[in-house]
Amino acid sequence: MTHPVAMVVASAPGKCILFGEHAVVYGEPAVAVAIDQRVTISIKTHQKPGATWKLEGVPFIAEKHPHLEGLRKRLWHLSEQTPSLDIAINSKLPSAAGLGSSAALSVAFSAALRAARGRRVDEKGWCEGFSSELKTDPYNEPRRGHEAGFIRNGGRRLLGKDAIDEDECAILAHAIEAEVQKGRASPIDSSTVSHGGCTLLSDDFEKGLDWRYSRQLSTPEGKRNWEVHDVPVPQDDVWLVIGNTGKYSPTGKMVERVASMLAAEPERMNEIITIGSIARRGADALKKGNMEAVGICMTENHLLLRGLGVSSPELENLVKAAANYSLGVKLTGSGGGGCMIALTREPKQTAEAIELAGGRSIVTSLGTSGVRIDDDENVPFWTPGVADS
Ligand code: MEV
Repeated sequence: MTHPVAMVVASAPGKCILFGEHAVVYGEPAVAVAIDQRVTISIKTHQKPGATWKLEGVPFIAEKHPHLEGLRKRLWHLSEQTPSLDIAINSKLPSAAGLGSSAALSVAFSAALRAARGRRVDEKGWCEGFSSELKTDPYNEPRRGHEAGFIRNGGRRLLGKDAIDEDECAILAHAIEAEVQKGRASPIDSSTVSHGGCTLLSDDFEKGLDWRYSRQLSTPEGKRNWEVHDVPVPQDDVWLVIGNTGKYSPTGKMVERVASMLAAEPERMNEIITIGSIARRGADALKKGNMEAVGICMTENHLLLRGLGVSSPELENLVKAAANYSLGVKLTGSGGGGCMIALTREPKQTAEAIELAGGRSIVTSLGTSGVRIDDDENVPFWTPGVADS
């Protein structure tokens, strides 16, 4: 059997953490915004069905691409029926730089696969899928026959854009991040890039904010629970200028470094808790639209992160250069290299100061739109039966 060529293009934005990185892995609050720079992924069918996938024209090697492979296992069980894919990625985000490039890739890819396979629904709702509401478990290695999560017979099929769901993209991307980061990953990146806008994670329900869902994860240090909320982004003429040190720094390594430090010096958990209280104050300032106070909390947060040992001379250099033109400055993401951010009303001067200090600058607004299907043709790519879902 051959399939006609079909195609889906999906994209998701990167993110900047305003407050709370690292501490959020231990259940403390954190706030992040989606940024203008996106990862776009396109998937096309080969003429012949079968087990081979190609990435950028060369055979796909699962071990080299754990994010894509983790999603393939959950959404695209290889069989005689499933068409092979040609995958191409176009990213405007530097990788391993703290801007959520892997979460954006996972969210965009999960949306592309879901749009391409479609989703069965009936009068009760979804007949297949992963969501916290349906209590499907995307965190464990999927068993054969359960790759599509919850499965119920029957229903009609939603296709393309109509089949995707931000909660599903976020929960799948979080599961993959947890796999890649040895069990220690918060949902801050995955939820922010999937829903767009501004996300607050908290250990409690926050009054006056829209609550989205709860997330749980068993980490090597214990069970974590996060309440995920949507924060309205203040309409203010304020920008984020990102300064990239150009130094590659994988998140998993930095998260592990903090975990080892806390195991050796448990009293330093106080610093994690202090970051949490700064994040809470920062979130309140953001809710009130007080951007001056937001900036102050960002700078305080940076000092704590520096104390934790996750800054670097390159980051300090850019933070210092941008500080004169900004309401607040801090490293963003896991640190060790990667990027810093400046909240500013003078984006041009701030970007110039960063460039003069040797960094690469990117100017972005706060809180752009989340995952989306940019194009779809000839969906579904195939029609799975329940047995081969
Ligand atoms: C990485 O963008 C943010 C960290 O807090 C890790 C995580 O939350 O999983 C360092």
